[in-house]
Amino acid sequence: MIRTGGHHPRNGSSSNQKPLEDNISVKNGYHRNEKVHSNGKGNGFYRSWDRGEDSFEEAPMYVAVLTYMGFGIVTLFGYFRELLRAVGLEKCNQAQEREEQKDFVPLYQDFENFYNRNLYMRVRDNWNRPICTLPGPVFDLMERVSDDNNWTFRLTGRTIDNVINMGSYNYLGFAENNVDFLKTVAETTVQYGVGVCSTRQELANLTVHKTLEQLVAEFLGVESAMSFGMGFATNSMNIPALVGKGCLILSDELNHTSLILGARLSGATIRVFKHNNMQSLEKMLKEAVCSGQPRTHRSWMKILIMVEGIYSMEGSLIRLPEILALKKKYKAYLYLDEAHSIGAVGPTGRGVTEHFGVDPKEVDVLMGTFTKSFGAVGGYIAGKKELVDYLRSHSHSAIYATAMSPPVVEQITRALKCIMGTDGTREGQRRVQQLAENTRYFRSRLKEMGFIIYGNQHSPVVPLLLYLPGKVGAFSRAMLERKIGVVVVGFPATPITEARARFCVSAAHTREMLDKVLQSLDELGDSIRLKFSRRRCPVRPQVCNETDFELDS
Ligand SMILES: Cc1ncc(COP(=O)(O)O)c(C=O)c1O
Repeated sequence: MIRTGGHHPRNGSSSNQKPLEDNISVKNGYHRNEKVHSNGKGNGFYRSWDRGEDSFEEAPMYVAVLTYMGFGIVTLFGYFRELLRAVGLEKCNQAQEREEQKDFVPLYQDFENFYNRNLYMRVRDNWNRPICTLPGPVFDLMERVSDDNNWTFRLTGRTIDNVINMGSYNYLGFAENNVDFLKTVAETTVQYGVGVCSTRQELANLTVHKTLEQLVAEFLGVESAMSFGMGFATNSMNIPALVGKGCLILSDELNHTSLILGARLSGATIRVFKHNNMQSLEKMLKEAVCSGQPRTHRSWMKILIMVEGIYSMEGSLIRLPEILALKKKYKAYLYLDEAHSIGAVGPTGRGVTEHFGVDPKEVDVLMGTFTKSFGAVGGYIAGKKELVDYLRSHSHSAIYATAMSPPVVEQITRALKCIMGTDGTREGQRRVQQLAENTRYFRSRLKEMGFIIYGNQHSPVVPLLLYLPGKVGAFSRAMLERKIGVVVVGFPATPITEARARFCVSAAHTREMLDKVLQSLDELGDSIRLKFSRRRCPVRPQVCNETDFELDS
């Protein structure tokens, strides 16, 4: 039985959340008065509610100029230091050409290495910070220092305790160690152990795997699903099983590396369309249908559109209804990666199909991971039974990879049951609603303060633009001094002039935690000048309150 109160925030979900009305039909008002169209599997489709627009406010001109100047200055210093290294006045700790191979084409002297040595090394202390508790809403970090300007780090043996975690993808707070919550996981470990030592096709097809897959299919409202031990491999190993030579992949320019790797491994032709840009996608589809393959002009065997539900660096939401319309018009297939959106959006957490009121069966390949909203590891592919059966016998990750560990399977199963309410509690739905409320509160307050934040108002991934290279390190260090752990991101994960902090809001964050983070951001935004937005927002954010909560039945 799940207990909803009385545990420490570090156990995952917090007891400090506002109490929720006993009646689940009294819920968050953001989809109030909406009509629900049920697909008969508990997957309600919500029509005509505010799905939110993606926002990508441009920086004022002076910020762009200062950013380029900042990069110019550190690049100049970089060249100066390269000179010092070349004459032996400064030690270089990075891999270098071997003396006996100095006539070879250089292995290491590309721009990225220059960038790593001279720019990244200045701020490297802001990444790879070791943590020593679970990644709940609050965690402990291991203190470390560098004696050689960030080339290496030494642990001091001390910890930085009770840091608010604004960086982990723990959207629904299922990364938790509450003994009651994890009871069935412990029981599964006792029954099956941890390792299965074989592939699903050989001797590791356990009942727990089958139960999980049935539950995933039911949750998503599709015929069938299959689970894989690793989210990354779910993409990179299944895409090659679906398309190959003579096929065309149309891929969003901001797709995750696992999708890109899968596309490359498949041998299909890859064309990249502008992020979430329907004109760009339609132009490519039209061209593909009209002209066919290069040289021979034979029709493409398959055209596969590859997109994500929520983009993890931009916080933007896929424009699913438009993409579905295009896919139908040009008879293409759609591969949708819901790594960040499953559990995190949609009135009952069923991802972007539910968010947009679209029948999940219209998406040919539904992919997602269990690493984010489910506090576990692994991924799934879901859709028609024929698709899943085909992948069971053709995907490398099904045939050659060891099956998912039983306790991990059980963790996902219990999280799914909790979200679906089949565990007899309303805790899962409470978390889904709490995440929506936290997301809206956090985003609206940041906008009100005058920060430039990217993405959709419903996205719990909240990128806050820092732009200037000098501000990236200053921001992250100052936040840690205030006991707030943040993720900062720069080139090559973002365009070189769009460095940012990327917050991940969680249902496990309490209002007090969010307020502490917001207050620190407000102070820091003034002291290191980060409030670049020229849009004026209302002084009082429109936050929801419990009396607005409504979940249509
Ligand atoms: C969109 C997307 N797909 C796939 C993955 C890979 O998933 P995992 O980290 O579970 O291996 C990620 C990882 O963050 C992701 O963001």
